[in-house]
Amino acid sequence: MKEEPNTISKSTPQIWAIGGGKGGAGKSVVSTVLAFWLARMGKRTVLVDVDLGGANLHTLLGIKSPSKTLNDFITRKFEVLEDICIDTEAQNLRLISGASDVLSLANPHFSQKVKLITHFSRIDADYVILDLGAGTSFNVLDFFLSANKKIVVLTPEPTSIQNAYIFIRNSVYRRLSRLSGKTPSLQALIKTAMDPKNVLKIRTVKELLQFIEESGGKDVMDVLKKEIENIRPTIITNMAKDNKEKNAGQIVKIVAEKYLTTQTTNLCSVSYDKQIGAMISDMSPLINLDQSSNAFADIYEIVSKLL
Ligand SMILES: Nc1ncnc2c1ncn2[C@@H]1O[C@H](COP(=O)(O)OP(=O)(O)OP(=O)(O)O)[C@@H](O)[C@H]1O
Ligand SMILES: [Mg+2]
Repeated sequence: MKEEPNTISKSTPQIWAIGGGKGGAGKSVVSTVLAFWLARMGKRTVLVDVDLGGANLHTLLGIKSPSKTLNDFITRKFEVLEDICIDTEAQNLRLISGASDVLSLANPHFSQKVKLITHFSRIDADYVILDLGAGTSFNVLDFFLSANKKIVVLTPEPTSIQNAYIFIRNSVYRRLSRLSGKTPSLQALIKTAMDPKNVLKIRTVKELLQFIEESGGKDVMDVLKKEIENIRPTIITNMAKDNKEKNAGQIVKIVAEKYLTTQTTNLCSVSYDKQIGAMISDMSPLINLDQSSNAFADIYEIVSKLL
């Protein structure tokens, strides 16, 4: 029998989303170890695989074939996300597995997405960690923007740095575009500004805000500016091999502030650790990562700072 939707939340969890644009930057690894640290600190944590097109988070926890997935929620087999949470080997840590086998889920309808976002905040946990898929599709951006903490993972590679910037830029435009939904002229202007070769020669979010202000829309500009400031993404550089690489996130921070007027926090870096790749190849749960691992210690530092 189907259960009634859980309208009375036992506690409202803090939702942290982990995105970053580039595939393979380590979003899932960072999400998993970060969630594990929260769980170890006694926080009831649920890790959610929101990589709707290519779910594989369960493998990082050593789970071969999840008994329940997000698909069971989307298809209304279960009415609350609580019912599709799977226990992991770690105390306080549960998983909601994605469902890569369901094509429709890779591109959910807007209403399905809103439903999911609403239900994330109804999970009975202290923390809900959303591991997002690669890219900057509206789905990824909407899940990212819905979170209390918005974490961007990049690697020191130039393409990854560039993708992290594009990810933040597209998040800003997505937020602005949703806000301007009831003002068609503003929405059209934002759409124009997103085209890099637009006739108005608006190249950055900063220039867009200036354009709005100079067109007599100071009040509108102030509202949009505040919204952008409130996004406040946190940047994490993963797979850093030396001190220079550890600073890769700083580049994104500087450029995002300069061109997007976005305040970001460049948190810390996660060291490259070859043990991680080996464990994933062996399907060994990442929660068994050697405690002496630098990456493990780095993520502890990140969690402590985020808390
Ligand atoms: N700190 C690290 N040290 C060494 N290797 C790492 C580290 N983080 C991630 N990796 C390697 O990078 C690979 C990709 O990581 P992961 O699956 O977390 O990326 P992703 O950003 O989630 O990718 P996708 O966008 O495809 O979901 C892992 O399989 C692992 O081998
Ligand atoms: Mg991933």
